[in-house]
Amino acid sequence: MLKNENYNKQLLIGLIITVVLLASFSFVMAMENTRLVEVTEHHDKESLLHGRELFVENCTSCHGTRGEGGVGPALNDKGLLEEATDGVLFATIQTGRPNTTMPSWGQAYGGALTDEDIHAIVDFIRAFETNAPEALADAFVPNASRGASLFSSTCFTCHGEDGKGGEDAIAPVINNIARLNQNDNEWYEQTIINGHPSEGMPIWGEVLSNNQIQDLLALFDAWRAGEEVVAATSVAQMLDSSLFALEEGNAGDALFYLDRAKPLAFGPLLSDFDATTNYIEAGQNAKALSALEELRNAWPTGDAEAGEPIYQQTCSGCHGAEGQGGVGKKLQPSEFIQENTNADIFAFILVGREGTAMRGFEDVLTEEELANVISFLHTWQE
Ligand code: HEC
Ligand code: HEC
Ligand code: HEC
Repeated sequence: MLKNENYNKQLLIGLIITVVLLASFSFVMAMENTRLVEVTEHHDKESLLHGRELFVENCTSCHGTRGEGGVGPALNDKGLLEEATDGVLFATIQTGRPNTTMPSWGQAYGGALTDEDIHAIVDFIRAFETNAPEALADAFVPNASRGASLFSSTCFTCHGEDGKGGEDAIAPVINNIARLNQNDNEWYEQTIINGHPSEGMPIWGEVLSNNQIQDLLALFDAWRAGEEVVAATSVAQMLDSSLFALEEGNAGDALFYLDRAKPLAFGPLLSDFDATTNYIEAGQNAKALSALEELRNAWPTGDAEAGEPIYQQTCSGCHGAEGQGGVGKKLQPSEFIQENTNADIFAFILVGREGTAMRGFEDVLTEEELANVISFLHTWQE
């Protein structure tokens, strides 16, 4: 803590600085607005046309034909366009968003577009601004489990598993209560956004969405409270783990995973969890194994009726309203759906098929929504 005698003076200085900063910030914002209007009015026509062409080719399947949104968020959204500078839009398109279906498009990131292409797309998106509707913001609740998933895919390579460092870690331990208590989340947020590039901490502000950063802060909160956070996993993954354990003869672990899966499970297969648990507890190993195998292969089964609108919203753009095919393959009927178990279909849709327009839908649809879509696809096979 600071000594008391200096405190009031520092507070005053801080206040003055804040006021000055706020005033210059509003000035910059005002300039920024005028600048944007000018830019929209003086778009280079050719670049705009090129941008539109690229947008139609690469982006409409997820962001809608007029940027109204679909799998991806609306881009003709007043809030987004006012908030995001051209630089942020450029960087987002160039690098994509890890752990979402937003791919990276820049050539430096394995994509197909040149910097010039991306500038043209930004121009095109910017031109939505003049009459973009205001989208209602989704209520967003930060989630530590989601933060843990992101951490274990994006941060652990340097900070170690669960942020605990370790032999191979080249970055400081984060998951240390004493250290976490030294700084508040405002500091952590700024550290993540700005990075520390000269010391090897990447700049995440242009790569991660604000929501993803809030999930990371929720994770740090949980660590600060001494909690152990399990990365968000699906019932399907836990059934896999349970089956693996039982095949190895480890009934205890098999029960552990089933227990964790059950509260998250849904739909017509729910009662099969209890039946399987009972076989394991009674030591009826052969019966337990075949029940668990059956459950694992049939999972996830959902509600076909609830699946239809999700299909129409998310999949029909490529697969056709009647599943007749288009950019995507024909799904009514489909040998793929007929010949694979639900577990395999689910795993396929989560990950997608590399090198094709069929991208993974993990983080776009929940497990239950996907279960409903899969059940809906089965009605086309009858
Ligand atoms: C396969 C689906 C998919 C395709 C194709 C796709 N996007 Fe995205 N895009 C997404 C998703 C999903 C998000 C939201 C990611 C998140 O949750 O942060 C997103 C986010 C964005 C954002 C940030 C929006 C925001 O609210 O912060 C921009 C800008 C964007 N995409 C532009 C594009 C452009 C331009 C293209 C074409 C070159 C494109 N996207 C192609 C799925 C896609
Ligand atoms: C390429 C390696 C690398 C990756 C990946 C990485 N970091 Fe870092 N991070 C570092 C390094 C190195 C430092 C120390 C920088 C310094 O010395 O100032 C650091 C520092 C930090 C700090 C400050 C820690 C402290 O107590 O001083 C936080 C918080 C942090 N990183 C969060 C993250 C998050 C969240 C992610 C994932 C989104 C991430 N980092 C991914 C290398 C990395
Ligand atoms: C952006 C376009 C696009 C969207 C959106 C899309 N798909 Fe696909 N999908 C494809 C393409 C292209 C293929 C074929 C990939 C290939 O060439 O192997 C495919 C393949 C498939 C297959 C395998 C079919 C087979 O016979 O191999 C299934 C199943 C499937 N998609 C289901 C879905 C579901 C369910 C959704 C919605 C949640 C969806 N797709 C959304 C483009 C899309």
